[in-house]
Amino acid sequence: MKITVFGTGYVGLVTGTCLADVGHDVVCVDIDRNKIERLVQGDIPIYEPGLESMVLRNVEARRLRFTTDAGMAVEHGVLQFIAVGTPPDEDGSADLQYVLAVASTIGQYMNGYKVVIDKSTVPVGTADKVRDRIESVLAERVADVPFDVCSNPEFLKEGSALEDFTRGARIVVGTDSDRVSDLMRECYAPYNRNREKLMFMSVRAAELTKYAANAMLATKISFMNEIANLAERLGADIEDVRRGIGSDPRIGYHFIYPGCGYGGSCFPKDVQALARTASKVGYEAELLKAVEAVNKRQKSTLFEKLSHALNGELEGKTIAVWGLSFKPETDDMRDAPSRTLMEALWAHGVTVQAYDPEAMKECRRIYGERDDLILVADRIQAVKKADALVICTEWKEFRTLDAEWIRGQLSTPVVIDGRNLFDPQTMALAGVDYYAVGRGKTLSTSAPV
Ligand SMILES: NC(=O)c1ccc[n+]([C@@H]2O[C@H](COP(=O)([O-])OP(=O)(O)OC[C@H]3O[C@@H](n4cnc5c(N)ncnc54)[C@H](O)[C@@H]3O)[C@@H](O)[C@H]2O)c1
Repeated sequence: MKITVFGTGYVGLVTGTCLADVGHDVVCVDIDRNKIERLVQGDIPIYEPGLESMVLRNVEARRLRFTTDAGMAVEHGVLQFIAVGTPPDEDGSADLQYVLAVASTIGQYMNGYKVVIDKSTVPVGTADKVRDRIESVLAERVADVPFDVCSNPEFLKEGSALEDFTRGARIVVGTDSDRVSDLMRECYAPYNRNREKLMFMSVRAAELTKYAANAMLATKISFMNEIANLAERLGADIEDVRRGIGSDPRIGYHFIYPGCGYGGSCFPKDVQALARTASKVGYEAELLKAVEAVNKRQKSTLFEKLSHALNGELEGKTIAVWGLSFKPETDDMRDAPSRTLMEALWAHGVTVQAYDPEAMKECRRIYGERDDLILVADRIQAVKKADALVICTEWKEFRTLDAEWIRGQLSTPVVIDGRNLFDPQTMALAGVDYYAVGRGKTLSTSAPV
């Protein structure tokens, strides 16, 4: 099939590349010239495991092309995927300007039947807005060209995006048209062999499904963080509690790890956007607001624990930070807990000495050159001459720590672990002042009840 994908970010590039890999003829279009130039030269602008070789393979096979030429791109595909960003607006609702700009472009250039597919995460009702926009551009052109708009939200996770796209749990398609259903079935047939994964539903249900999924996952995280904070104050070990509840099949072990808060490009903005959608229809989504509030508070716990451990004496200190990306196996730092931490540290006159396997370029892009940000080549250099260590991301290479060694490296020696990677007792026995989440040492001054 001839397919066009608007946007070559985490979702667009993965979508286009995976669809090319199963034999479709794909054109990816972006307005970012620099990104397209890099892609044309075989330089992949984002880090996603396995993506580089898949892109190169499909470019070589001439099934995957990159362009800034929107006219050619619209002309190319019968399917037009919209996979551009939907960042939060000032009030937290999803900013649809990029999605609607693509709709205008499609309306401007289309000369034959197209299925316009919203793959970006967009609020309920967006497909209608996309349709209206295309219709108004066609009316300006005095052109009568048939098209349909459907919703096909994406559920991939950064870090395992290829696996998720090709072997995902489900493929949700929101449409009321048989023609669209047939075309979407054809598009996804290579991924639909093992069992029926396509789920057809109304456009609105599909749009809401995406937000509901992210809101549910974010709720699980905030719930566990709330219980972890309680466990800490009550003298219980959250790891025991996690095993104790995870064993219940109604609860399960997935997604119940406490930590330093969720980040990334999806959960924070999607929970907020769903709450805004709710209030626009006269419903106050109390649970969603609480999920967000708990997460915001959780992101500041790394700094609070560090400040507590150092008796508030932060100025002039050097703090080692392991992990900058919002989770392992990505270079994405959007809304990452490391950012909340570093910004608080800088505001208190602290120098950050950080290492991340993939996100250091991105960190430099965001914060630029500054004296209080030293990026180093590995985790060992990060702790050299540092006063304390904070672990923000559970990259594999951070999962072992010689307690004696780290005590010898750090001047205080304080370790704040935002991902519960180590055993508090082993750390304490080695003389490390170790703070995790919901276990071991607590900030609370009152004795456990
Ligand atoms: N990142 C994820 O893990 C993930 C997962 C599921 C869904 N989503 C959703 O998918 C959408 C895209 O997310 P992302 O992380 O890929 O975003 P991104 O910021 O990485 O990429 C968006 C791309 O769209 C391009 N773009 C903007 N306007 C354009 C236009 N008019 N024409 C062509 N290209 C244009 C940008 O230049 C950019 O390259 C969002 O709605 C997001 O919520 C993201």
